[in-house]
Amino acid sequence: MESFECFANRVSVREYLDKPVDNGLLEKIIDAGRRAPTARCVEPWEFVVIRNKEVLKKLAELAPNGKFLKDAACCLAIFCQETKYYLEDGCAATENILLAIADLGLGACWVAGDKKPYVDDVAKLVNAPEGLKLVSLISLGWPKQQIKQSKNRSLKEVLHWEKF
Ligand SMILES: Cc1cc2nc3c(=O)[nH]c(=O)nc-3n(C[C@H](O)[C@H](O)[C@H](O)COP(=O)(O)O)c2cc1C
Repeated sequence: MESFECFANRVSVREYLDKPVDNGLLEKIIDAGRRAPTARCVEPWEFVVIRNKEVLKKLAELAPNGKFLKDAACCLAIFCQETKYYLEDGCAATENILLAIADLGLGACWVAGDKKPYVDDVAKLVNAPEGLKLVSLISLGWPKQQIKQSKNRSLKEVLHWEKF
């Protein structure tokens, strides 16, 4: 898929087929994440791939807005060392990953991590070393149905040439 086609087609997908995602694709996806820019080039991220059904169920219980995690083929948990720009760095990697997933014809949804009360519980669940901050969770799987992107704000509304 061309990059711009990918931007135009990426949507949040919350329903998945009961079909695994193979390691080769998961490696490609995480490779896209580690290519994201980071402030001062510190590359503070760590990526955890979770496929264990019991753990997915626990994640779905911990994250009230991520109940669909239990039916995902896997969850990607994006952690960062607590640097000054950990949140920006982790979010940039998250978006790279979401675009890579769309490019591969898979479906995903960003589930909030940072600022949520469950960050420590998720960290414990995956044995995260001290000092790592959960930035985001991504549910991932083969989409149950194709969803069309629908954006409310048009280019005309959001684009300002030189000044507002
Ligand atoms: C920081 C952030 C946190 C999000 N957290 C959740 C979440 O916890 N649960 C969820 O279902 N969607 C979550 N989303 C996905 C948004 O709801 C979704 O991107 C938005 O509705 C726009 O839809 P689209 O992704 O299909 O364009 C999150 C998105 C972002 C950027």
